[in-house]
Amino acid sequence: MDSQQIAASIARTNNVAGPIGVFDSGYGGLTILEGLRKALPDRDYLYLGDNARAPYGTRSFDLVYRFTLQAVEYLFARGCHLVILGCNTASAKALRTIQQRDLPVLAPERRVLGVIRPTAEAVGALTSTGAIGIVGTPGTVASRSYDIEIGKLHPQLHVYSQPCPMWVPLVENREADGDGADWFVRRDLENLMSLSPDIDTLVLGCTHYPLLIRKIRRYIPEKVRIVNQAEIVGASLSDYLLRHPEIDSRITRGATCGYLTTEDASRFAGMASMFTGRPDITAARIEL
Ligand code: DGL
Repeated sequence: MDSQQIAASIARTNNVAGPIGVFDSGYGGLTILEGLRKALPDRDYLYLGDNARAPYGTRSFDLVYRFTLQAVEYLFARGCHLVILGCNTASAKALRTIQQRDLPVLAPERRVLGVIRPTAEAVGALTSTGAIGIVGTPGTVASRSYDIEIGKLHPQLHVYSQPCPMWVPLVENREADGDGADWFVRRDLENLMSLSPDIDTLVLGCTHYPLLIRKIRRYIPEKVRIVNQAEIVGASLSDYLLRHPEIDSRITRGATCGYLTTEDASRFAGMASMFTGRPDITAARIEL
């Protein structure tokens, strides 16, 4: 769609309620989607994975921003009034610019929310030592988004971050439970804990990482609490919709979920079943 078609489609759906859009670079946001569906089961959802251009974690700021904006425009054109960036990398590198620069022009009544802010809000109540560990893609860690958001909300906390470039490929290649995964997970968590032995709260700052939870648990000290980002984002959205009935009234309630991908639809459906545990997923391929 060109920009005129997008503007026309958005205008056409302005007074029509629609599903909650959930965007991710690929499969990872499905873990966030599951958290949203658990918290708000009666809402309709439309998931979009940009699998053709994933992974985003190693891409430049500009590219992640441009890809994410295209996806948001697409979901708006499909009738979503609220889009959740269920991707840490997109939340880190694109959200702020979209909220501040694009939304006021594109669709001032619509909203785009991310996963980093609600996670940053939650960690303050979880730590006793004040030392928070973050694991994420190289892009998320380099953006320092967690440090910045946690620093704004809880300036007394210390944040220690470790990029884990191999964890997404391990999950996507169905090696999350394989022996090779142990080597990388152990190395990265040892690096993280060497930054501060006081770390007592670990944020999985990438949507793929819950699938490595068994390995992560094995290589992190028992005292460390692992933050469930999907649960936090679900609770935060419930709270947001209570505070914003004008947005909630534009969300349809049929408990349905559609899946869109920019890559092969049947491959998406197979991987999506692995991420969600739902055997019955069907997807449609779209172009951004
Ligand atoms: N979904 C991305 C995230 O949460 C990880 C996958 C990617 O690098 O595209 O950071």
